Amino acid sequence: MVGDSVITLDTLSVPQINELLNKARYIESHRRQVARTCEGRVLATLFYEPSTRTRLSFETAMLRLGGQVIGFAGAQLASVSKGESIADTIKTVSTYADCIALRHPKEGAALVASRAAVNAATGDRVPVINAGDGGHMHPTQTLADLATIDQRFGRLTNLTVGLCGDLTFGRTVHSLIETLCRFGNIRFVLISPEELRTPRYVVNRIEASPTCSYEETTDLAAVIGQLDVLYMTRVQKERFFNEDDYLRLRDTYILDEAKLSHARPDMAVLHPLPRVNEIAVDVDDDPRAAYFQQVRNGMLMRMALESSVLGDELPGYEPLGDD
Ligand code: CP
Repeated sequence: MVGDSVITLDTLSVPQINELLNKARYIESHRRQVARTCEGRVLATLFYEPSTRTRLSFETAMLRLGGQVIGFAGAQLASVSKGESIADTIKTVSTYADCIALRHPKEGAALVASRAAVNAATGDRVPVINAGDGGHMHPTQTLADLATIDQRFGRLTNLTVGLCGDLTFGRTVHSLIETLCRFGNIRFVLISPEELRTPRYVVNRIEASPTCSYEETTDLAAVIGQLDVLYMTRVQKERFFNEDDYLRLRDTYILDEAKLSHARPDMAVLHPLPRVNEIAVDVDDDPRAAYFQQVRNGMLMRMALESSVLGDELPGYEPLGDD
């Protein structure tokens, strides 16, 4: 994967994803040894949409690997506000940086950027990592989700995974379903209002898997007792065309301790964050709450990914290999 852009996790094989999970575990326990892995490297974070976790964890990851960071948070401060195209911005930044993390409101923007990401001086391709493109995909959030599920259950297969909330615009849901289908033997329970059902192109992925299945429901309480994982999501206000629809749908699902009392004692509650009010704060102290564990894993997985696409080997790391 050296030099490769990561637009969706489809571009990585399952052994490559397992290798990233293993690297993140290694990084966690060898923080000092890996602290100069990316010395001399520059990461550019180009965030055309708001972010707290993704941008700061991409940046912290590079800093903790010994590299440096440039970029912008908010297109109003960059030349895009003067009408510059994404391709021109990416071509420019590709002459400065060794790797680019891009968040953009338009679906497909990361793919367009990856095609433009060539260092004009050397002719080398510069890897672009999709940090969220509109309502499409968010592959590095999925890496954090996989690490968290793996830590909780010791496996990424033979699980019943409930996904709840805005399944239409929730890009983290789309990436997670796409990827878990490749691990196999997952039963998905898709819990949403009728208006926010999972897009057909995502459901098609489940239907194409010989070992995965799904059901759709509007009733969280009816299914919560069946779940190993409950992945809550925020209703994505910024992707609605109509404010009234957002206001009508935003409070459809609110997970609190009373609802959680009907869940299995070892169920894991995930949420990519930020939350609005879909998980009550009283759930935070419940041992099933895994969302701040996801935050931590996001940084570790981005450290694993950045070092991998740059081809910078972690000192002392023994690869799993393809077996
Ligand atoms: N999970 C996530 O993408 O969070 P941010 O929007 O804060 O980056």
